[in-house]
Amino acid sequence: MNASTQPGSPSTQRIAPADIAHAASILAAGGLVAVPSETVYGLAADAGRSDALQRIFQAKGRPSDNPLIVHIAGVDQLNACCREVPPLGWKLFEAFAPGPLTIVLPKGPSIAGEVTAGLDTVAVRIPAHPTFHAILEATGLPLAAPSANRSGRPSATTWQAVIEDLDGRIDAVVCDAPCPLGLESTVVDVTRSPPLILRTGMITLEQLQRIEPTVRAWQGRDVDAGSMASPGLRHRHYQPKAPVIWLDHLTAPQRAAERIGFIGQTTSSLPQAALVCACASLEDYARRLYDFFRRCDDSQISLIVCERVAASGLGAALADRIRRASGDT
Ligand code: TXA
Ligand code: MG
Repeated sequence: MNASTQPGSPSTQRIAPADIAHAASILAAGGLVAVPSETVYGLAADAGRSDALQRIFQAKGRPSDNPLIVHIAGVDQLNACCREVPPLGWKLFEAFAPGPLTIVLPKGPSIAGEVTAGLDTVAVRIPAHPTFHAILEATGLPLAAPSANRSGRPSATTWQAVIEDLDGRIDAVVCDAPCPLGLESTVVDVTRSPPLILRTGMITLEQLQRIEPTVRAWQGRDVDAGSMASPGLRHRHYQPKAPVIWLDHLTAPQRAAERIGFIGQTTSSLPQAALVCACASLEDYARRLYDFFRRCDDSQISLIVCERVAASGLGAALADRIRRASGDT
């Protein structure tokens, strides 16, 4: 790691996706590298090094009580992370790994305390993105990686968005294509009975229930189970500079006075919008949401208006992110 890459220094390296060995060497030396995943960019560091993990929190401005997801190349690395894998954990890895599902398991002794923020569980994901996978293989290390954005901001789905938030605060970014899915992984806790979705994401409740019918999604009202289990849910999240509202909450004075950015599948509903993101499907809406939020920031948009989506299937995760971006936690 380069000593001049402490927060505040203007020297984040741009690495080509083909240069896996270089990214891996920075990580092996305790550095921070933003890597593409199929969901969003992750800010990776060796999950066993407290110094590197502390720098993740510092670079993001992340509250230290919000635990990190540990990423591994395959199930053979699970024993480096957790004490045991309950039978449902195995079934879910078999069905959805590699891919956008994060599974909360009993924490093993070698996981650094900074990763779990004092919880006795650890969240583990096997990413499907070929570049991330190759970096995991090349380091041979479990890599802790939160989303590669400043805390509270929309997640970064492009390397340019990573630079926007973290230039000079991290050692390197891998300059790959935009993340193909665009919303974060689903986080499911299999240490509880019944198993609980702590964060909705790209793998839907319906998909999980096909494997285990008792899986349920955390509801805001279910405070005991949810807020204790996933500290990240308590914090401000995904917010662009302009306020975010649903289209069906837009008032006539707002229509007249605001410089509006509109995202949705029915773009004819708001012809006066200054910036429009026309989405071809729900998947397209999910893929483009965070990038659109950031483009609104660049275009002096004063109000971001989102077309409502039904909160089922992938719509559940999309509605959750838009609701949180609107400041309703
Ligand atoms: O798609 C994703 O999940 C991306 C990519 C990079 O993998 N990562 C990501 O990380 O979104 P982050 O840190 O932005 O969100 C992780 C979420 C937080 O809500 C955190 O509280 C929760 O996972 N989490 C992590 N460890 C946990 C644990 N042991 N128990 C409960 N929740 C946990
Ligand atoms: Mg995040």
